[in-house]
Formats: sequence, C-alpha cells, structure tokens
Amino acid sequence: MAAGISQHGMWSSKLGFVLAAVGSAVGLGNIWRFSYVTAENGGGAFVLVYLLAVLSVGLPLMIAEVLIGRAGRESPINTLIDLARESKASPAWSLIGWSGVVAGLLILSFYCVIAGWTLSYTVTYAQSMFAATPAIANPGEHFGALTSSTSSLLFWHFVFIVLTIGVVARGVEKGIEAAVRFMIPSLFLILVSLVIYGMTTGHFGTALTYLFSPDFSKVTGSTLVAALGQAFFSLSLGMAGLMAYGAYVPDKASIPRLAGIICAADTGVALLAGMAIFPLVFAFSLDPHTAGPGLVFVALPNAFAQMQFGNLYGLAFFVLLAFAAWSSTISILEGGTAYLVERGLSRWLAATLLGGFAGIVGIGSVLSFTVWSEVRLADRNILDFTNFIASDLMLPLGGLAIATFAGWVLAEPLRRNQLADISDTSYAIWKGLCRYVAPILIALVFASGLGLFG
Ligand code: PFF
Repeated sequence: MAAGISQHGMWSSKLGFVLAAVGSAVGLGNIWRFSYVTAENGGGAFVLVYLLAVLSVGLPLMIAEVLIGRAGRESPINTLIDLARESKASPAWSLIGWSGVVAGLLILSFYCVIAGWTLSYTVTYAQSMFAATPAIANPGEHFGALTSSTSSLLFWHFVFIVLTIGVVARGVEKGIEAAVRFMIPSLFLILVSLVIYGMTTGHFGTALTYLFSPDFSKVTGSTLVAALGQAFFSLSLGMAGLMAYGAYVPDKASIPRLAGIICAADTGVALLAGMAIFPLVFAFSLDPHTAGPGLVFVALPNAFAQMQFGNLYGLAFFVLLAFAAWSSTISILEGGTAYLVERGLSRWLAATLLGGFAGIVGIGSVLSFTVWSEVRLADRNILDFTNFIASDLMLPLGGLAIATFAGWVLAEPLRRNQLADISDTSYAIWKGLCRYVAPILIALVFASGLGLFG
C-alpha cells in the first residue's frame, strides 16, 4: 500500500474532495455542451442513452479512476507505472496517463475559448448591473459580434488560460476548496431559480417533453457515440483527471460513496440546466437544432433581457458559469502539472508550460470562428474537430483502457484494499462492470459510431 500522504498535498476532508471533484465535473459540459449536444441529437432519446451511459460506464469508471489515484498517490503517469510494476504488468500502462495529458491539453485548448466567452459576458452584465435597460438587448447580434472578433476571442481565451495557470501553480488545496465551497451551492441555487423562471414561460411542458420523451427512431450509432462522449466529458473521465484528484483523497473515505455523490450531482446539474434552458429556447422561438454552441449564450440572455433584475441575474449566471468552468480547467491541468513537479520542475513552471501550450493550440479554435471558419477537418471546424477527437474518441478510449487496467491488470489486494468498505457482492459487481460491461459497451459504441454495423 502506498503511504497515506501525497507529496502534492491532500484534501482537508472528504467534503473537500467531493467539492473539488464536483467542481471538476460540473462545468461548461453540463450547461453549454449538454444543452446543445442534446439538441443536436434529438432530445429525449439522447438523454435516456446518456443516463444509461452514466450508470453502466460512468460510475464504475469513476470509482476505478479515484481508486487507482489513491492507491498510487502520485501523478497519474507515475501512479500507473508504480501500480503496473506492483501488479507485475508492463509499465506501458502509463500510456493511459500520457494520453490523458494530451487529451486534457486538447480539451483545455478549446474549453478556455468558450470559458472566455463567459468572462466577456460577465463584464458586459457587470457594466449594466443596475441599469434599467437590458445589458444585452439583442443577444443574437451580441454573440455574433463577440465570435467574429479575433482580438476579443484571443484576449478572453488567454485571460482564462492565465487564471487556470494561476490557481494550479499555487497548489489546489486551499484555493480550489475555498472557492468551490461557495461556487457549487450558489450555482445550484441560480439554476433552480432559472428552472422556476422556465416554469413561468408557458413552455416548460414542451421542454420536458423534448428532454424526457424518447423518440427511438432518432437513436443512431452517432447518438451513442455522442452520449458516451458527453458522459465522459461531463464526468471528467477517461483522461485521468479524477485519478490525479484521487491521489489526495484521505485513506478512510469510501470511494464508491464519493463517486456516487459526484455522478448524481453532475447529472442533476445537467438535467436542471436542460430544464432551465429549453423552456427559454422554445419561448423565444429559437430552433434548438440549429443554435449549436451558441445556445446558452443566446437563449439565456434573451430571457435576462425580459426579466426583472435581468442584468443582475445575467451577471450572477455568467459569473457562476465562469467559476464552474474555472474549477474544471484547474482539474484538467493538475495531472500533467503534478507529473512535471515529480520530474523536478517547480509548480509555477510546470503549470505555465502546459497551460501556455494549450493556450497556443487553442488559437486554432479561436480562428475557427473568424479567419479559418472555412477550414474543415472531417467535416468539422477546428474547435469541433478538437472537441470530437478529444472528447468523443480519446476520452472513451482512455476509459476503456482504465477499466481494463482496474478490472484485469491491477493486483487483487491493491484494488480490494481501496474498496474495503463494500461487501463482496458489491465488489464483484463493480469488478464485473469494469471487466466486461464498460469495455464491451465502449467497444460496441465505437464500432457502431464508425459505421461497422452498416
Ligand atoms: N467535466 C467538465 C465539464 O463538464 O465541463 C470538463 C472536464 C473537466 C473534462 C476535467 C475532463 C476533465 F478532466
């Protein structure tokens, strides 16, 4: 068993880890990505497949990632090297950690572009906080102006990169824990109040039908790939991010219970976000299928423009969205940074090098809105392509490898010790999910996504 303390520090308590992990999981993925990916995939059928993916693949994998992290108590790459050695397996399993770092940097590269929009909106709403007229009177135009200005996009993108580096460089414990303790409950409250507002629009029923009544004729191979990709992205799985956070979890904490709380909180926020956003989409006659990534940035400001105290609401919403995104980007950068620290770099240098690299790669995503908007890779613009490769391909493949490592490769005492609090039956179920269900489902979904079943 690894020593009970990580050289990088520890969460102050179980709650500290839950908040940090919920902070990692809850982000743009729940609000921005979930809403438009659901819309692109036909609504209810997608939501149902998504929930199945969370239960059958997401939860067991989250347990596996945190367990591996706590068993090794180092950065994911070194943890995997050590655990593979202790399990008499090949050190090549550390490739999971490397691919996690690469996927993370790719995700960070475009995530900060979108997260930058939340900062820009925050400033706009703050400037008109107490004004009687709406801060954003014409959301469609406002969004168009922002996303067609290369300099604004670049500016906000790099501000977000710098903010992320700043926190990771200082070490995550005090900064993140203190921040998420305030951010997560506030985000929840704001979302609930937006859901309540959604109920008053007269379109709540349409939204519920849209979200929860599945039309199975819409389920295709690509729906399955998108649902699985969304589950991995939203739960922060498949790139060893929660493995990195798992290294700082106290010995006594029950990993399955913590993972259950995180999955439930993450799914709850995504569904609430859907119930907040779609009534507005229908109320303002937006077409959910064509709005794409602009959905949240156009639909919600439309509502804020008509609500009493709409500017304050808008400010609160975008501040919290920015915080939610921030607590996610921090977790994306942590694993790679911890590795470079173990190689002897200072935290500042490590975080700056990796964050700076992601920032530069992200310029491609920025330009995909402006001068490179015509560039197409596999029928997608640069941002969508990066998102597809990292989220829909690399995360599930990383998850497949992690499930295989946890279920088949890791020495029995190593994994059983980490799950000492659960019964033999529960343990057998978890192992079966990791050994058979998760890998087979991921492989099948891939095969169908790649069109292998015609
Ligand atoms: N889960 C985050 C979200 O839903 O916005 C995104 C994310 C964070 C993905 C951390 C991967 C990760 F390791």
